[in-house]
This record gives sequence, structure tokens and C-alpha cells, in this order.
Amino acid sequence: MPDFPALRLRRLRKSEAIRSLVRENTLDAGDFVYPLFIVEGGGVKKEINSLPGTYHFSVDKLDEETDDLSRLKIPAVLLFGVVNDKDEMGSSAYHPAGVVQQAIRAIKKASPGLLVITDICLCEYTSHGHCGVIENGDVDNDKTLPLLAKMAISHAEAGADMVAPSDMMDGRVKAIRQALDGNGFKSIPILAYAAKYASAFYGPFREAAGSAPQFGNRKSYQMDPPNVREALREIEQDIREGADIVMVKPALSYLDVIRRVRETFNHPLAAYNVSGEYAMVKAAAARGWIDEKRIVLEILTSIKRAGADIIITYHAKEASAWLAEQV
Ligand code: PBG
Repeated sequence: MPDFPALRLRRLRKSEAIRSLVRENTLDAGDFVYPLFIVEGGGVKKEINSLPGTYHFSVDKLDEETDDLSRLKIPAVLLFGVVNDKDEMGSSAYHPAGVVQQAIRAIKKASPGLLVITDICLCEYTSHGHCGVIENGDVDNDKTLPLLAKMAISHAEAGADMVAPSDMMDGRVKAIRQALDGNGFKSIPILAYAAKYASAFYGPFREAAGSAPQFGNRKSYQMDPPNVREALREIEQDIREGADIVMVKPALSYLDVIRRVRETFNHPLAAYNVSGEYAMVKAAAARGWIDEKRIVLEILTSIKRAGADIIITYHAKEASAWLAEQV
């Protein structure tokens, strides 16, 4: 092994050309999933206060947006519904004429090549804002499972390409797999929010989706942030139940978890660069404190380097445009 001065690591950093040859990780628009928030009504494209640069869309305004996404070569969207009609059981989550069901139909018609993934969780649809049915002041795991399965079927019937349960109930992947298979949807994959932490980084999303819990918090179902071995157990459980792709969420404070999952399992791995992570960058950029483009690309690269194959991010559109400029 040569040592300095024979060894000079700077030789391989001398020009962009040489750096490009030895670069270990690269970002591509094809890695990204773009979240979309669908609201009721018509003619709505309204910027979301807590997530500058992202919008609430009514179904009739989606085609412009999906055209943009196709042009930017972003392969997939993740849909969230924002509704006015909420009840204890989250019924509008599995209504055939719900906003997400309508959005799926509209997107598959306007942009058939765009992969439509839907978030499966009741919190945007329940009056109490929790991710499942409330029994004695807490979310009842087993009573929630059939509702999640119903929601997944209703999205599949509307034409969704993939479903993504984010509720963190035990057994939901199995319940959803069985329901999909039993209803003729054997080839619809499940992207499981497998290691999802009870994180303060979801704050801006809850404002965007109107899904903040009306009492208590999500700590009895989402994971405790200090734990990493437990994340491996969560991932293993979801894989056993039939998850096709697993996710770690949030991304940035959990890069070590992404790395551990990458080293332990061979499943495709997604990371969710969540709303709080995005909002902090936007807030600092608006004040001129950071170089937004470089920071965003560095952040997204770090998620790739940690081991994620897929990045769900509100930065997807701008990042894809920046990446296209560079070539
Ligand atoms: C629904 C859900 C949440 C997010 C994705 N799906 C919120 C939550 O669990 O409270 C958060 C996404 C983000 O912060 O960007 N359960």
C-alpha cells in the first residue's frame, strides 16, 4: 500500500470529468415519487402554506400537474386525500366517489404511464384524526385492519397501481394482501411504510392534510425515535406479511436506519423525505441563508448514499429540473 507522497487522493478530484468517473452514487428523476394532495371541489390549485411550492389540487386541475411530472420524467405520484366529511370510522376513505378514487381515475386517464401509488391510512378521514378506529381512548389494531383493506380495494378498483399503508397497525400488510388477492388484484404491489417513526417532522403535512390528531399523539402505533433494532423487526414483519417494497420514514434523521435496512434486507427500499425536512429547507432558502439547489441535491444524494432506491420527496419537481439542466 503506497503512502503519501505516492498516495494522493486529490488526483481523482481534479476535474468534473474525473469526479464523474469515480462518483459512487447518482441521483436520477427516475428515483423520485412526488406526493400530491387532492381536495374536494373544482378549480382549485392553491399553494399549501406549510409547504411552499406544493399545492392542493382539485381533481379537475390535476392534468396540468401530471403533464409536468411526465415531462420531468418523474415516474410516480403518491396520493393523499383532504376531505371535509369526516367521521369516527373514516368512511370517506373507502367511498367509491371519494376524492382519491376520483383522482386515480383522472390521472390514469390523462397520464396512463404515470404510476399511481396511494397512501392507505385513515387519519385524513377520521373526525378524531387518528390512523384507526378508537376504542377506549386508543387506536384498536384489529378493528382497523378491515377498514384499511376496504380502502386498498377501493383504490385498486379505481385503478391505483400500488398501495402504501402508512398507519403502522400490526397485520395490515397481510390484511391488505389477502383482500387484494381475494378481489382479483394479485399483481398490485404493496409499498409498506414499514419503519415509520412518531416524528415531529410530519408537522407541515398534518396542516396540509388536516390530519393532526384531535387528542393525544401517535406514539402508541408509530415507532419510538431512539430505536433501530425495532425498525429491523418492523421491516421483517412487513416482508413476512407480503410487502413488495419497504420504507423508512422520515429520511434525514434516520439515515442510519436506512443504512441498516439496506445491509440487512434485499427488498427495494424507499425513504420518505418528509414535510418538515422540506419546510426547513424552504424557510432557510427564503431568507437567503442557504444555496437551495445545492442543499436539496446534497440532501437527496445523502438519502441515496445511505441506501434508498426510491425517494419520496416534495423536492421531486425542482430536483428533476435541476438534474436535467446538468446534462
Ligand atoms: C398518514 C401520513 C402522514 C405522513 C404520510 N402519511 C402523517 C402522519 O403519520 O401523521 C407524513 C408525510 C410528511 O410529513 O411529509 N398517516
